[in-house]
Amino acid sequence: MRTVIRRSFAIPLTILGLIVTIGVFITFDYITLLFDPVTDNAIDFEVPAVDKETRLPVTSTPQLIPKILHQTWKNETVPEKWREAQESCLQSHPDFEYKLWTDESARQFIADEYSWFLDTYDSYPYNIMRADVIRYFVLAHFGGIYIDLDEGCQSRLDPLLTYPAWVRQAEPTGVSNSVMGSTPNHPFFLRVMLELKNHNTNWHVPYITVMYSTGPLFLSIVWKQYKRWARSDAEQVWILMPPEPGAAYFNDLHGSSWHEDDAKYIAYLGVHWLFFTVLGFLLAAVVGLVSYLIIRRMYPRITLKYKYLEYGK
Ligand SMILES: *[C@@H]1O[C@H](CO)[C@@H](O)[C@H](O)[C@H]1NC(C)=O
Repeated sequence: MRTVIRRSFAIPLTILGLIVTIGVFITFDYITLLFDPVTDNAIDFEVPAVDKETRLPVTSTPQLIPKILHQTWKNETVPEKWREAQESCLQSHPDFEYKLWTDESARQFIADEYSWFLDTYDSYPYNIMRADVIRYFVLAHFGGIYIDLDEGCQSRLDPLLTYPAWVRQAEPTGVSNSVMGSTPNHPFFLRVMLELKNHNTNWHVPYITVMYSTGPLFLSIVWKQYKRWARSDAEQVWILMPPEPGAAYFNDLHGSSWHEDDAKYIAYLGVHWLFFTVLGFLLAAVVGLVSYLIIRRMYPRITLKYKYLEYGK
């Protein structure tokens, strides 16, 4: 009799175990993101020494990232409220090439250089998603530093040019795509580019779609997966930590430089993705419970079958 009970439990337990394992496997990177303090490969702020003659900063470590600043806006007319931030970066970096990517030039760039991605690019339901992805593509292609239009430059960015690739730590966890730097063809941004197609899902709720498909959560997940494999120093992604008072590269004007229509979604993103993670856990619990009930209904039959086998012996 004992073996009958043990066997009849084995099947539902195995099925439940499989469901839980698959669930954890699928959501693993999202779950670990919740507990990841993101302190590895931290970039500390260092005030660059300045050459007396050229008045440009000198760093002892070699410059890896090319001197290019990338920004995006829908057209060439940057609104008044972002001009000060934009000017602060332009004036402190006259020796940098400056590229302002507009809706038109961004799409043209994708069409010319990455035509395999154009369908996906055009399929995005929100402009903010195109604004997200163009920054990954231009960093992978040209290298340089991407800066959101609402970020002003507090100091010269030269020390940041000495890392092969970096992103900024985000609140409450993960990394953000508001300011990033990279050498051309860095394996991390190449991977980000390729992963975009896999994550192109319309969840029919704007902020989930944006967050998971192209935005900071997408970037954080790719980063988590990537850093397990990155080995050499050149492959690493470095993390720009939140600034100490008076020691910052950038000053966040706490606005939104996004295309105005999309601005309201961004405010949701940081707050609500935690909520959706919890929702994910609840969904998994419901799936577990339903499968348990189904198995319970099968249970008498399973018992019967084993009993029959026992009798058969
Ligand atoms: C850019 O768009 C704004 C409206 O969104 C318009 O007022 C402005 O004239 C446009 N600038 C150019 C250069 O087309």
